[in-house]
Amino acid sequence: MSGIRSVTRGIGSYLPEHILTNAALSERIDTSDEWIVQRTGICQRHIAAEGEYTSHLGLVAARRALEDAGMDAQDIDLIILATSTPDQTFPATSATIQAELGITQGAAFDVQAVCSGFVFALTTADAHLRTGAFRRALVIGAETFSRILDWKDRGTCVLFGDGAGAMVLEAIPESEANGAGVLTSHLRTDGRHRHKLYVDGGPSTTGTAGHLRMEGREVFKHAVGMITDVIEDAFAATGESAETIDWFVPHQANRRIIDASAQKLGIAPEKVVVTVDKHGNTSAASIPLALDVAHKDGRLRKGDLVLIEAMGGGFTWGSALLRW
Ligand code: UT7
Repeated sequence: MSGIRSVTRGIGSYLPEHILTNAALSERIDTSDEWIVQRTGICQRHIAAEGEYTSHLGLVAARRALEDAGMDAQDIDLIILATSTPDQTFPATSATIQAELGITQGAAFDVQAVCSGFVFALTTADAHLRTGAFRRALVIGAETFSRILDWKDRGTCVLFGDGAGAMVLEAIPESEANGAGVLTSHLRTDGRHRHKLYVDGGPSTTGTAGHLRMEGREVFKHAVGMITDVIEDAFAATGESAETIDWFVPHQANRRIIDASAQKLGIAPEKVVVTVDKHGNTSAASIPLALDVAHKDGRLRKGDLVLIEAMGGGFTWGSALLRW
């Protein structure tokens, strides 16, 4: 479009120290390791410490992404944070992260698309970079869902965890990109489904933060169809396919949703990056966390074609294809 490509320069992540296992959970509520593993694939999740906020998680992930990119915070002129669990209603948590990084130039703002947040943030960053208005972006997904869970509701509290992931994107001339960068992205929202996954509070309604509520079976019913539709859009836009991608890095909500989506699309199981067993569902943080795991363990390499997707509250859903 503009002759500019947004290319990935670095990735980083952070998980809080405390691990909450299924066994520990089953001492607190009427559940079992067997039920959780069988229905979701989740074995454990990380929980933020008291006084450890979304901005703290996001900041560590951002610093690690900058280090991976070999860049200084001063190189960044755009920060987009995807989160549904901000430190405060306002200012945007990205403003806190910006200040902690010592950055005073450019812009920082939050986007809120729940579990699809990272795909929405990446797409927004890519669009801004391609206008030429910004040079280097930090795209962060950071969440402390443990703070909005109803710990008495076994249908939801076993599913989520805390964490953060961040990516550095740089705008470079397409002619120098060697095919790398964000190749396509596709975002969708259908607000008719907003009551199936929501938080029962907010500044304008109850004046409280509220708790997460979900009709799990309803979400599950829509998930695979929505995910596969938007991935087919990405394939149609680029001519790529289940065969040509190197890695499928889906939002990590439920192992059954991941497996069913991969199977429907014909993506080989060995191409699927799975972290839901260890991280649980970290909402907007799950994709950059999974990307970082695959990067650190050597699976994800320069030139690889990476497919990301997510679906969540709203409903929102989206996909993107990146050449690493
Ligand atoms: O990030 C994007 C948004 N979230 C999702 O993608 C989540 C989508 N949904 C799901 O992953 C699944 O629907 C769940 C994992 C939430 C639930 O699995 P399910 O197979 O749909 O179970 P269900 O809700 O139909 O519940 C089956 C049974 C119920 O008992 P009865 O009514 O059959 O007697 C529940 O009360 O399992 C019971 N149950 C539990 N039992 C033990 C629900 N939660 C638990 C639990 N431990 N934690």
